[in-house]
Amino acid sequence: PNPPFATQTLRYGPAAIATAAALIAEGQPVAIPTETVYGLAADATDSHAVARIYAAKGRPSFNPLIVHVLDLAAAQAIATFDETALALASAFWPGPLTLVLPLRADAGIAALVTAGLPTIALRVPAHRAMRALLAATGKPLAAPSANASGAISPTRAEHVVASLGGRIPLVVDDGATEAGLESTIVLGREVLRPGPITAEALARVLGTLPTPDHHPGERRGPEETAAAACATPDNAPSVAGPRPSPGWKEGESREITAPGQLASHYAPRKPLRLNATKAASDEYLIGFGPAVGIESLSPSANLTEAAANLFDALHRADASDRARIAIAPIPSEGIGTAINDRLGRAAHRD
Ligand code: TXA
Ligand code: MG
Repeated sequence: PNPPFATQTLRYGPAAIATAAALIAEGQPVAIPTETVYGLAADATDSHAVARIYAAKGRPSFNPLIVHVLDLAAAQAIATFDETALALASAFWPGPLTLVLPLRADAGIAALVTAGLPTIALRVPAHRAMRALLAATGKPLAAPSANASGAISPTRAEHVVASLGGRIPLVVDDGATEAGLESTIVLGREVLRPGPITAEALARVLGTLPTPDHHPGERRGPEETAAAACATPDNAPSVAGPRPSPGWKEGESREITAPGQLASHYAPRKPLRLNATKAASDEYLIGFGPAVGIESLSPSANLTEAAANLFDALHRADASDRARIAIAPIPSEGIGTAINDRLGRAAHRD
């Protein structure tokens, strides 16, 4: 089939996975939940299938994709692991951690997946639906978040349909995702994108808290991160998260920060104001803690709950009758770091 599609939504189960696996075998992309956000999955060894992911998302082809596999053995067939990577994989896989590693020459991964880089971003997901699809297809699956490029990531099947309906054949619906934020991306000992695996959790394995080694606003191209991944590891512990750098937007520039993070990303359609303590009359205020605003990310001020609700709340705010969105301050500790990373991007205007 060719676009436009009548996008079908099937509830997770053996029939949905069989239908999804058949579409993957035909080279089509399929939306499927992971424990972080819904992904748009396609056979990572089939360049035409991967091209359809980029086409459906309207994604710049220089922004490389994460590849999902069932286990460490499958990951080792695709990339080489040093001791640090092995320690992180055994501590956090299956789970919301992505490792950027040197790509093996014999991996058979389509060049479009890595945008021609000598490295690859790999993860072993924990979600039953993605795992069932990996098992049914027997293929490594490239899967970016299942939303139009630059938009808020989907944490529910309805978000996927709203963003990509008519552009993809199938959404497998298994309810709201657990973590609600995209996976933590690590290169060596450096956090390229903060996420559900917090800096504190990484430090328990790595022995030290990753600390910043470059300045806010500084950009590193994928080639530079790729060089770092392929160089001898075991340097001194480094870095922290990516920083949104002002003044560039998706599709505009070849300059991409370390993980290919773009300043204006995860953006709602409406303007977003951060650190708001009260709302103007035309604002949809999203609170944190008890009784502030139209809704609270977590009435009990629990950051994990807030992360799980964040994108859903932004989707609701975007769909509301208020012209603008405001959000209460979120503490930058634990997964709060990742929440504030996403909010900084969502608030960024070009
Ligand atoms: O939780 C997640 O990671 C979700 C689910 C679906 O697994 N996926 C996801 O994929 O967030 P995506 O494509 O939206 O984000 C992939 C990120 C981008 O920032 C990309 O630039 C970076 O990973 N990336 C991929 N390959 C890379 C590489 N070789 N070097 C550095 N960054 C890389
Ligand atoms: Mg994304």
